[in-house]
Amino acid sequence: MKLERRNLLCRPRRLRKHESIRSLVRETHLTKDDFIMPLFVVAGKNVKKEISSMPDIYQFSLDQIGSEIETLLKVGIERVILFGIPDEKDEIGSDSFRDDGIIQTAIRFLKSNFPELFIITDVCMCEYTDHGHCGVIHQRDVHNDTTLYYLQKQVVSHAQAGVDMVAPSGMMDGMVGAIREALDKHDFQDIPIMSYSVKYASSFYGPFREAAESTPQFGDRKSYQMDVANIREALVEVELDIEEGADIIIVKPALAYLDVIARIRDLTDLPVACYNVSGEYSMIKAAAQNGWIDGDKVMMETLISMKRAGADIIITYFAKEAAKILQDQH
Ligand code: PBG
Repeated sequence: MKLERRNLLCRPRRLRKHESIRSLVRETHLTKDDFIMPLFVVAGKNVKKEISSMPDIYQFSLDQIGSEIETLLKVGIERVILFGIPDEKDEIGSDSFRDDGIIQTAIRFLKSNFPELFIITDVCMCEYTDHGHCGVIHQRDVHNDTTLYYLQKQVVSHAQAGVDMVAPSGMMDGMVGAIREALDKHDFQDIPIMSYSVKYASSFYGPFREAAESTPQFGDRKSYQMDVANIREALVEVELDIEEGADIIIVKPALAYLDVIARIRDLTDLPVACYNVSGEYSMIKAAAQNGWIDGDKVMMETLISMKRAGADIIITYFAKEAAKILQDQH
């Protein structure tokens, strides 16, 4: 052994010796306030259907959703993002902007029964169209500007039903500006927009498409969602959304895109959210069910990696479980 090795002045292990010093120098912390829980709401009655590819995640009809909300509130999760699955789908996703559509009915029901709940809606057409694409089809592709018109109708109907925040996820050009304009015109200046500014054409959405019954019936989403190989393009998307009036920026997916979260964190002082998507959830659940990993530990480790990368907010199917673990630690 070389002599100078024994004279090491800096020994990082000094700060790792006991949990009491480790927690003193810990740089990142998770709290229940970081989380938003996604919920799938279906039309009809008596539905509580587990998504086969997402253990413990269900589609709920409104008469069944109460106990889930109570559990969430008990562990301190007060913010949810709603996805609606209508009875009937058509070419223009009519249910998505009807006053008595599934999502509008859900907002009214939840607001009157759980006034403390902060309700966010995913604003997109894919759960409502019979072709499963995120907009109106013209010559076998999504037509951008016609889609904006329907997104405006959607957000106004959500706002009239009492939504607290909207989250457009369709990756249409100009969607944030169009939505801001529609909300303001109807006197909803105070409703924030959390934009899925950076949303990749990812294969990690597979289980969600089963949950939301929104698999495209032809083609894929590559003409509107981002190429997974790009990061400079993410900066362009975020700059545009900020100009158009976005209040919070989402990066999606999260785990394979931590570099993107970190770059966006540097680019803007707006709050940055990330979406820990369905495939990320299912992979951990599957490996844990096989006994290959410790599910709880891997869950907490991946969540903190998103926070460490720079996310202020994590939209995650793990919200309930992670909040429970954090609560039990105190
Ligand atoms: C579109 C939307 C999707 C997700 C959230 N909003 C699916 C898609 O773009 O195909 C994916 C979420 C997940 O995988 O958990 N409305």
